[in-house]
Amino acid sequence: MTSRRFILDCDPGQDDAIAILLALGSHELAFEAITIVAGNVGADQGAANARRILDLAGADRPIYRGAPRALLKPYDLGERFHGGDGLMGLDLPPPSRPPEAEHAVSFLARTLLAAEPGSIDLACVGPLTNLALLLIQYPDAARGLGRVAIMGGAIGLGNVSPAAEFNIHSDAAAAAVVFSAGLDVILVPLDLTHQALGTDARIAALKATGRPTALAVAELLARYPRLEKFNYQGGPLHDPCAVAALIWPEMVSGRHVAVEIDASGGPSHGRTLVHWWPKSTGPRPNALVLSEIDADQFYHHLSNRV
Ligand code: BDR
Ligand code: CA
Repeated sequence: MTSRRFILDCDPGQDDAIAILLALGSHELAFEAITIVAGNVGADQGAANARRILDLAGADRPIYRGAPRALLKPYDLGERFHGGDGLMGLDLPPPSRPPEAEHAVSFLARTLLAAEPGSIDLACVGPLTNLALLLIQYPDAARGLGRVAIMGGAIGLGNVSPAAEFNIHSDAAAAAVVFSAGLDVILVPLDLTHQALGTDARIAALKATGRPTALAVAELLARYPRLEKFNYQGGPLHDPCAVAALIWPEMVSGRHVAVEIDASGGPSHGRTLVHWWPKSTGPRPNALVLSEIDADQFYHHLSNRV
């Protein structure tokens, strides 16, 4: 596989941090930049966290801060789930430098408008505000996009409400813009990420590598809530699955179907309504919705790459 140009849009966040490390360690991706959206933490904290993770890896990439809030109303920041700092209190030095002055949306527009059509893959692993703003403000920029892997939504149960998953729920209006834009969307919902559990054995394998970055990943996994209420053997690792879907498409499977977004503000607000069973009537397919991942393979690769 030749290396594909790649940008990560994220809200770091424990699992976002691991997604950064996976992308950095993967030659299949020419990882060019990180754009930040508010979500798990505010945009300033998210940008600082992304830099701290790059510093840990001894890597340098430009980081662009984007939307500090959702399109229609401020985010209900999910800081509690990832600890106050977003990185579960991981002991890392302060960031070595501040983010770029340019806004994330302007960077994305500038880069995508200058790119070959379909040449830049994007993974969005936070609320979709930056991408929605790009599509609204610079619709022509979409032609530079290749695959757009989105961690978000659920075929079944959500995680912030029975209906909705955090990223889509945080900015459902933005998600509605994105899913109606005709992009090559690969949706990585909770149904898949809840198969990628950070079990004790997988954490031990990461530790056994002895690499500081892998040790940090092991620590982040160990600190993540295990959702014992579901009797899980480890916390689900969401965001790196979206990066993995771009790197190893053969490791995942799903269906090309229609996805509608509930942005009504009602009890199902933030729902990704996935039309799993094909019908001749109804909305047209607009996303590849993934439902399965080979979790052992995924963690095997993760241990080698981070
Ligand atoms: C998503 O929500 C965030 O808390 C995680 O970083 C992930 O992107 C999972 O619902
Ligand atoms: Ca995230």
